[in-house]
Amino acid sequence: MDRIGVLFVCLGNICRSPLAEGIFRDKVKQAGLEDKFKIDSCGTSAFHIGEQPDPRSRANARDNGIYLDHQARQFVSADFSDFDYILPMDASNHRNVMKLEPENPTGKVILMRTFDSEGTGEDVPDPYYGGERGFQNVFDILDRSTEELLHTIRAERGI
Ligand code: 4NP
Repeated sequence: MDRIGVLFVCLGNICRSPLAEGIFRDKVKQAGLEDKFKIDSCGTSAFHIGEQPDPRSRANARDNGIYLDHQARQFVSADFSDFDYILPMDASNHRNVMKLEPENPTGKVILMRTFDSEGTGEDVPDPYYGGERGFQNVFDILDRSTEELLHTIRAERGI
């Protein structure tokens, strides 16, 4: 069976989406499902292509037991067929993604916080210009949201 493709999307691909990727990878690993998934993240902008995650994001993740290793890349139209679940972090990046939607997309696009038990449908706030507490707030949001995302995918795919 093909792996289930899960793609997290933000603006720069250096703060929120690599963190979501790292947390989700950890949950998938703990569930013993690594061979069932293809997991990645990207940004809708070209600002930080090739860069590792922001040092503040890396430090916050490390404090929470998650190690980030990712090279930023930009979202492309082909991601609609390469991934089954495309998860933009906010409404603005949702719009950016939809601008590149091809004729017959196979992947479905769902706002990340649709899966947040404590605040559905809102944006994952951009911590880039904020302080450390912003990063922990983002971590907590993504921890809750990726937990529910994994439950949903397991139920949908029967794994
Ligand atoms: P991210 O955060 O989208 O969560 O990676 C940002 C990173 C960089 C910029 C904005 C947001 N920027 O304007 O360079």
